Amino acid sequence: MENLDGRVAVITGAASGIGLAMAHRFAAEGMKLVLSDVESDAMAAAVAGLPAGTEVVSMLCDVSKGEQVEALRDFALDSFGTVHLVCNNAGVGGGGAMTELNLTDWEWVIGVNLWGVINGVKVFLPLLTEQGEGHIVNTASVAGLFAAPFMGAYNVSKYGVVALSETLFNELAMAHPGVHVSVLCPSWVKTNIANSARNHPDGPPEDAGAIAEVIETFISKGIDPADVADQVAEAVKVNRFWIITHEDTPAAVTQRMRSILDDGAPPMLMH
Ligand SMILES: NC(=O)c1ccc[n+]([C@@H]2O[C@H](COP(=O)([O-])OP(=O)(O)OC[C@H]3O[C@@H](n4cnc5c(N)ncnc54)[C@H](O)[C@@H]3O)[C@@H](O)[C@H]2O)c1
Repeated sequence: MENLDGRVAVITGAASGIGLAMAHRFAAEGMKLVLSDVESDAMAAAVAGLPAGTEVVSMLCDVSKGEQVEALRDFALDSFGTVHLVCNNAGVGGGGAMTELNLTDWEWVIGVNLWGVINGVKVFLPLLTEQGEGHIVNTASVAGLFAAPFMGAYNVSKYGVVALSETLFNELAMAHPGVHVSVLCPSWVKTNIANSARNHPDGPPEDAGAIAEVIETFISKGIDPADVADQVAEAVKVNRFWIITHEDTPAAVTQRMRSILDDGAPPMLMH
């Protein structure tokens, strides 16, 4: 989609971090925005912080709930009559050893990170294929390309997002060449993801634990979300599938692939 000006973008998880940065980048391109999130105050602040003149509407939407994503589609159509770009971006972090993750943790992380993308694709894809053009950006992570320890539920959710996106790419190429998909695979980005437990069904734990502290340190040294948003906008314009934001990612992916080909043990790869 070479020219984004005047096109309509839907972004989930748009009140913070990468989603919010995409909103600003797309606004700068002249896009009309449909923003959604589960946090109403942050959502209102995000909308208020956009440049004057941005055509923007917003609504609360929990992406893990299919009926709420359907309501988001209807809201987008009522607001702007069409949708061109769908960014299935909402996600939560969920660090912890396999021995410690409980079923609520698993269901929450898979529900938001993987079902959120499944719901977004299921609900919006028919619109895009019917109009014969459009683009879907699914936010995965490097955690969808190799599996670091202590991030089991997160890794599983992001491998799922990568697999879904790869599958969709070739189905679209065969049957709907005007509709495109990209998968965003960042390593650490400076966002609020280390505080994801603010939205955990059981509320944030009293003590987040050592793993959460380590993750927070990495996040604080991450790249700027605006850099990620720039790469997303470029990928949409040139129909690039893989959006690999960090220079050290290819080497880690190579190491994982090499271990498979060599029948070796999974390498201990950190983000
Ligand atoms: N920050 C990183 O280092 C990093 C790296 C790789 C991938 N990612 C991915 O980027 C995406 C955005 O995360 P971020 O880093 O900007 O974090 P963030 O916490 O700053 O933003 C995520 C947003 O998603 C919202 N959200 C949470 N649960 C939701 C739900 N059920 N439905 C709708 N919205 C929900 C939050 O309220 C928040 O506004 C996620 O998918 C995340 O996994 C982040």
